[in-house]
Parts: sequence; C-alpha cells; structure tokens
Amino acid sequence: MKVAVVGATGLVGTKMLQVLAERNFPVTEIVPVASERSVGKEVEFKGVKYKIVSMADGIAAKPAVAIFSAGGSTSLEWAPKFAEAGITVIDNSSAWRMDPTKKLVVPEINADALTAEDKIIANPNCSTIQMVVALNPLHQKYNIKRVVVSTYQSVTGTGKKAVDQLFNERKGAEGEMAYKYQIDLNVIPQIDVFLDNGYTKEEMKMVKETNKIMRDDSIRVTATTVRIPVVGGHSESVNVEFSKDFDLEEVKEILRNAPGVVLQDDTASQTYPMPLWAHEKDEVFVGRLRRDESQPNTLNMWIVSDNLRKGAATNAVQIAEYLQGKGLL
Ligand SMILES: NC(=O)c1ccc[n+]([C@@H]2O[C@H](COP(=O)([O-])OP(=O)(O)OC[C@H]3O[C@@H](n4cnc5c(N)ncnc54)[C@H](OP(=O)(O)O)[C@@H]3O)[C@@H](O)[C@H]2O)c1
Repeated sequence: MKVAVVGATGLVGTKMLQVLAERNFPVTEIVPVASERSVGKEVEFKGVKYKIVSMADGIAAKPAVAIFSAGGSTSLEWAPKFAEAGITVIDNSSAWRMDPTKKLVVPEINADALTAEDKIIANPNCSTIQMVVALNPLHQKYNIKRVVVSTYQSVTGTGKKAVDQLFNERKGAEGEMAYKYQIDLNVIPQIDVFLDNGYTKEEMKMVKETNKIMRDDSIRVTATTVRIPVVGGHSESVNVEFSKDFDLEEVKEILRNAPGVVLQDDTASQTYPMPLWAHEKDEVFVGRLRRDESQPNTLNMWIVSDNLRKGAATNAVQIAEYLQGKGLL
C-alpha cells in the first residue's frame, strides 16, 4: 500500500522510514512529505529514492495511511484534510492526543479500541509510552493507585536542532540553541512550557495520557520531566503504589512475559537498563526492581527505551500494522 511519511526529513520521520523497512510493512510506494523548504529533496526507502512533496501533493497521491511527525500545528491544520480525503492519519504530535473523539494508542494496551471510523489516531508522548508498556501488566494484577515518575530524557526527544546544540557545545562551536540553557554538562528540569499549576506541559502529558491509554482515571500520576545530555534513549525512575500487595518474584515473572518488555534486572552482575543498551531496540527495558521500604504495596522501577523507536516510530508503525492486520485500512 501507499504510505505517506509526513515530516520525512526529521528525526522521527527518518526513523519511521527505517522501521517501516525493517518490519517489512507492505509498502508499495512511499510518499515523503515535509515543509516547502524540503520539497524536491530526496529520501531513500529500501534502496529506492523518492522526491519529497508538499502537503497538498501528499494528499493528491492518495496514500492509504499517513504517519505524521511534523509538529503539532502542522497536524492540527493538515491531519483533518488527509482524513477528509479518506487517508488514515497516525499522528506523533500532541495535537490530537487528549481530544475525546480521538484514540490514543499503545498497541500492547488498547489497540482493540480501534475501528475503521478512526481516521486520525494519536501516538502518545514518548515518555508516556515506555512507562505504560511496563505498568499496564502490573496494573492488571495489583491495581495501581499512584505513580511518581522522574524522567531523564535525551536530546533526540526535542528534534534535530537539539542534537546540533549538544554537539556544537561539545566542540565549542557557535550555533542555534534548541534550549534556553547549555545542555552539555548540564541537566535541565524543564521539558516543554510551564503551565499555571507549576508543572510543565510534558509532565501533565504523562498524567493525562496514562489515564487515557490505561482507560483508568483513578490512577494518580505525578511527574518531574528532566532533559539530560544523552543523545538517544529516555530513562525513568518510577515509584508505583498498588492497591494489593505483590511478590517481587511474581512482578519479575509478569514483566518477563509482558509484550514489548525486556527485564534487565540482575544486581549481582550489575545488569540494569541503560540508554546505551536500548539504542536502536524496539522494546521497553525494565530493571532495578525493588520494594519501596518506606510504604506498603509500593515498587521502585527503572524504565528505559529508545525514544525515537518505541517512543515514536515503532509505536506508530505497530498501530499501522494492527490496522492493516484487521483490514481497517
Ligand atoms: N523526537 C522524539 O523523540 C519524538 C517522539 C514522539 C513524538 N515526536 C513528535 O514528532 C514531531 C517531529 O519531531 P522530530 O523530533 O522528528 O523533529 P525534527 O527533527 O525537528 O523534524 C521536524 C519535521 O517536520 C517537518 N516540518 C516542519 N514544519 C513543517 C510544515 N510546516 N509542513 C510540513 N512539514 C513540516 C520538517 O521538515 P523540514 O525538514 O522541511 O523542515 C521535518 O521533517 C513533533 O511533533 C514531535 O513532538 C517526537
């Protein structure tokens, strides 16, 4: 089938092309779309070169599905136009995630909610995806009451400009700044803009998106999201309070068998998830599992995943695979 990749020159779009090829999604033709600046440039997919086209030409090409990663305002303006033309949009931006008429999907958890009527489907925030993939199987068994999460997010989560900033700083070169402050040799406790409640937008995304994906508004979440000078891979320290008590060995067994999760938890050999090991992997890695000794029924976990893969491209392609497998495209 014809597949449009909107934002095909960006970090996520480039990864999207790579993941579509790797997973052998049944693509007959790629329709790469980007801003007017890039129209006419070429991208490669499975050894074939494709010319980048404009948004309007992307619609005119009539792809069956369009995977968007071109920012929120582009999605707000263009996703409905693609949808009106009968093209199913899978959108990586935050534009549609909390719209009650749109599904917010992590295939391991709630793809069953998708129907042929869903023409704009939202891909969740990268930090949320990796957290819920690990939490959902535990929620089924022990019922989560509250989650306290602190993130350690890499610069690829911001886009190309941020990667350039980090490497310019490392070389001592001048260049455009993606962040207000130096990121190399620093830690910035702000991701996205501040809201009236003192949280950042990224932090509130983690709260609201978790409830929506796990279909349970009773789960209370509080988040602190932090940018660190790592190129790729987000890490999270997650403290989870359950209604029921748990057995640590059983928790490990559940995670070992959970779809999309890899357990890396062996203190004897100092084995735990790290961005370096998660790089270019599609799974969510979980380790440092231990009982929180300060209160009952509470678990500490460390969760790492490649933000451009499961946090963005892989999750979007898995949604497309689900739709295709169920004949919904
Ligand atoms: N990075 C992540 O880990 C991550 C994870 C989940 C979701 N996302 C979301 O994915 C989107 C892209 O992120 P990214 O990291 O790939 O950013 P990026 O590297 O800056 O790439 C942005 C892409 O959007 C295109 N674009 C910008 N303005 C456009 C316009 N007016 N019309 C059409 N195309 C336009 C750019 O094309 P040009 O090259 O022509 O400018 C480029 O292809 C954002 O919405 C982001 O929130 C990112």
